Amino acid sequence: MAALRALVLLGTVLSVAACGSSASQTTADGGSPGAAGATASEAGSGVGGASMGAAAGSAAFGGSAGGSGAVGGAASGAVGGSSSGGSAGTGGVAATLPTCGPPADVFSPIEKLSLTGCVDPADPRKPTPKAVPYEVNSPLWSDSADKTRAFILPVGTKIQVRSCKAGATGCDPADDGRWDFPVATVMYKTFSFNSKLVETRLFIHLDADNWVGYSYQWNEAQTDATIVDSGGADATFDFGAPAPAVSWHYPSRDDCMNCHNHAGGSTLGPETAQMNRVVGGMNQIDAMAAKGLFATPPSMPYKPALVAPYATSLGAPSAGVTTEQKARSYLHANCGFCHRPGGNFANFDLRYDTSLKNMGVCKTDVKKGAIAAAPMKTTLLEPGKSMDSVLWLRMNEVDPNKGRMPQIASFKVDMDATRVVGDWINALGNSCP
Ligand code: HEC
Ligand code: HEC
Repeated sequence: MAALRALVLLGTVLSVAACGSSASQTTADGGSPGAAGATASEAGSGVGGASMGAAAGSAAFGGSAGGSGAVGGAASGAVGGSSSGGSAGTGGVAATLPTCGPPADVFSPIEKLSLTGCVDPADPRKPTPKAVPYEVNSPLWSDSADKTRAFILPVGTKIQVRSCKAGATGCDPADDGRWDFPVATVMYKTFSFNSKLVETRLFIHLDADNWVGYSYQWNEAQTDATIVDSGGADATFDFGAPAPAVSWHYPSRDDCMNCHNHAGGSTLGPETAQMNRVVGGMNQIDAMAAKGLFATPPSMPYKPALVAPYATSLGAPSAGVTTEQKARSYLHANCGFCHRPGGNFANFDLRYDTSLKNMGVCKTDVKKGAIAAAPMKTTLLEPGKSMDSVLWLRMNEVDPNKGRMPQIASFKVDMDATRVVGDWINALGNSCP
């Protein structure tokens, strides 16, 4: 009962954070009364939807877990039975862990990452063997951290791929190929420097309308990670010479939702253009299709891959890739989930498939005024002149209070990105399409 009330409250919080989610999401069991909460006046029904969704979600979850067995004592219990899958009963530790999924009470997530069921009991530095690891073509810049990513699908559920070709009504072509994950999915991302983990983030699909994100802070011994407060945290790591000390900021749970907003699709990496890449000798979408992970796999040929904007641990841009492709891939992956229709600053659109003309930036005046570092510059994008373009100038700012973009979760200028985006702007000539 307490858990249900907590979810209703959370529904209120998240529908405020969701900023006009007119793009409805395809979910496994959509159609709850709150699913279309597009206007402020519908907030009430959105909340109702959240509570109903929660009930349906936990029922479905218990069902897929194959019974209401005893469970998860240690870790606040609650999350349904132990997995119905093969690994149940493989050992004492595994048998006492909950299934990786939504917590019983969103305000009391499981304290230790090792007890969530989402990581490998034999080595909590790795996701559970049930997870599906993946890579993206154009990653989010996180102050040069290395990252690994995976998702854990509830037993028996599938990923829905949005397809405009299938004649879906109201389909936005620039969102074609986005992947929608079923309720109770857990998305996993780990951040590291020199192979030392600093943070693991779990992003969990609570019910038809709501997701929640949690950060876990790794200990220096690398044996386990502990939940970070909802307001976020700062920490400094000393892994011993020769590794340099690492200062790290853990975003707040509200910050998660600012970026992982409904309009952007909640999950931000998985879409066909991001996932269309060869990993370990095989296209990872082919591999996932072979495992039966999709309701309907993306149609072939797959939507063209986004490109690596510059060389990272995920690889270098391939030969023949244009500066425009690199710059636009970067802006799509790092900015396009906020600067898009329905996003939290929707005056312009930085998604890859939107033409320069329709982006709404070229020779367009700023709405928010100049930034302190360049008080005379008031044009979002001045073709041929990156240094006169507020879009570029804001990427070069470090202070979130002085106009840095993005304004949350990263604090270092991405020099490779400002070079690529600057080169693109400088090559645009001096007129707009
Ligand atoms: C500045 C925006 C931003 C913030 C803040 C942010 N994320 Fe993300 N996150 C992204 C983007 C963009 C991706 C996809 C690109 C990638 O994986 O590099 C992503 C990917 C992820 C993934 C992999 C699944 C996915 O959606 O692609 C997880 C898990 C995740 N984030 C969790 C969190 C959690 C939990 C928080 C809050 C503690 C958080 N994120 C805060 C932007 C953000
Ligand atoms: C978490 C959401 C979010 C992300 C990610 C984000 N922005 Fe923003 N952006 C905003 C918001 C909100 C504003 C308006 C408030 C402000 O000025 O700080 C804004 C303002 C701007 C402006 C000024 C607009 C004007 O008309 O004055 C520019 C330019 C901009 N962003 C570019 C970018 C670029 C480039 C990126 C990626 C490198 C990016 N933003 C990433 C949310 C975001």
